[in-house]
Amino acid sequence: MSFYVTTPIYYVNATPHIGHAYTTIAADVLARHHRQLGEETFFLTGTDEHGSNIPRVAEEQGLDLRAFVDRNATAFREMTERVNASNDFFIRTTDERHGTLVQEFLQRIHDAGEIYEGVYAGLYCSRCEAFYNESDLVEGLCPQHGIRPEFVEEKNYFFRLSGYSNRLLRLYDQRPDFVLPRFRYNEARRFIELGLDDISVSRATQRWGVPVPWDPDQVVYVWVDALINYWSALAFARPDADLRPGLWPEVRHVLGKDILKFHCVIWPALLLAAGLEVPKQLFVHGYLLLDERKMSKSLGNVIDPLDLAEVYGVDPLRFYLFRVATFGQDGTISLEGLHERYERELGNDLGNLLSRTTAMIARYREGRIRVVAGSAEIAGAIDDVRRAAGGRLEKFDLTGALEAIWELVRRLNQHVERTAPWELAKDDGRAAELDRVLYDLADGLRAAAVALAAFVPETSDRILRALGQRDDLAWTRVAAGEAVAASGIEAASPLFPRVDAPGVAAA
Ligand code: MSP
Repeated sequence: MSFYVTTPIYYVNATPHIGHAYTTIAADVLARHHRQLGEETFFLTGTDEHGSNIPRVAEEQGLDLRAFVDRNATAFREMTERVNASNDFFIRTTDERHGTLVQEFLQRIHDAGEIYEGVYAGLYCSRCEAFYNESDLVEGLCPQHGIRPEFVEEKNYFFRLSGYSNRLLRLYDQRPDFVLPRFRYNEARRFIELGLDDISVSRATQRWGVPVPWDPDQVVYVWVDALINYWSALAFARPDADLRPGLWPEVRHVLGKDILKFHCVIWPALLLAAGLEVPKQLFVHGYLLLDERKMSKSLGNVIDPLDLAEVYGVDPLRFYLFRVATFGQDGTISLEGLHERYERELGNDLGNLLSRTTAMIARYREGRIRVVAGSAEIAGAIDDVRRAAGGRLEKFDLTGALEAIWELVRRLNQHVERTAPWELAKDDGRAAELDRVLYDLADGLRAAAVALAAFVPETSDRILRALGQRDDLAWTRVAAGEAVAASGIEAASPLFPRVDAPGVAAA
């Protein structure tokens, strides 16, 4: 089984923000989880560097185009590292190897007779890099950017998208989980049912882009150029291998709701026209909204929410993003919200559980974990996680999976309270009971750490080390009775040390 996951490639007209990081982290969680399942996994992200907007912004800022693009591409690459994404490759669409494959792809569609020459006259929003009908506008302005589209008239090459409605509808019928969540599937399907217009796939007035192979006076439309990255990157990501035979079409695209139509309608049609297979699945997530008022109240205008990773750590940010909103829906993030979950869920539920468990092992058992039979109750709780979190991750339900894991964390906390190991320790006659409780706690925490590894990899590693356990992250180890004997366990230092309350943190 192979699992190939992508993020959109981000425009380099600006620097990365928390919204980009959100998609990248989501794809990373999926990639890490599928590696845990032992599948051949490939995770792609990168930057979209062509289009009319990028030269325009470079010029506005008085910067050399190449230098501008390189600088922002570097910023995106750094964001990827900063959030601890485990991508296998980072594609840039200005890479010549990509350009060659874009030409090859377009030539195939041309050879298939699916491209014709025409004149485009209409309204164009350069921020969206998309044409609009008068009826799409809101008071004459682009619905996404609120700017006035320009009138453009030029000779273009058109792709016969209109001829693909039936094939796309059949595809949607045959694959009810082609697009997730379901309401996004319905939205994409409605676009197709409403009827599709042919789309222009070239630009006559621009120079910044990949030349159209049969007419080098034009460049390929930036969206066509960009979508092809998902396929082209596999051809050159590894110097010695073409990964396409193994990984195409095992691809899952993760994207925001703003670019649904390009991915769920236009991209499959382009692939069909090129004689290639359509993606396995697309997951469309919602938007993260900033609680601007709260953010600025406590932070002034100094801090970029991505900097919260520096204040709280990367793992707390990764955790919070999928806890605050159901993945798929919109959600509002705030500094207070992050702070509160940091203290209550990470600090108390998880951090204190590890501190208490290791302190008791150190104190009552001289730092030794003895392997004894655990309780059926904890074994059941661990099995539930493997099934529920595993099943939910299969459906891209990151929030549901995290909740299933947290259920185990809560049950372990209840177990401590109920069994009161400090009482057991007072009575030599109950030593076996105490051994069992300590084993349950260590084993449960170990299983939680393995299950959490995709979300909070550094934390997971610290838990396993504090408990003297192997860093074997195979998903099958989210099972009871896998904790091994260990010695030298010491009371662990807090996983999530106190951070000053919001406001103070920013000072
Ligand atoms: N370059 C195109 C994508 C081409 S893919 C073949 C593009 N780039 S973008 O820089 O604008 O990135 C858009 C994507 O960034 C969204 O689809 C989403 O994945 C992510 N997000 C940007 N802002 C976001 C939020 N506020 N919230 C959630 N995700 C957001 O479109």
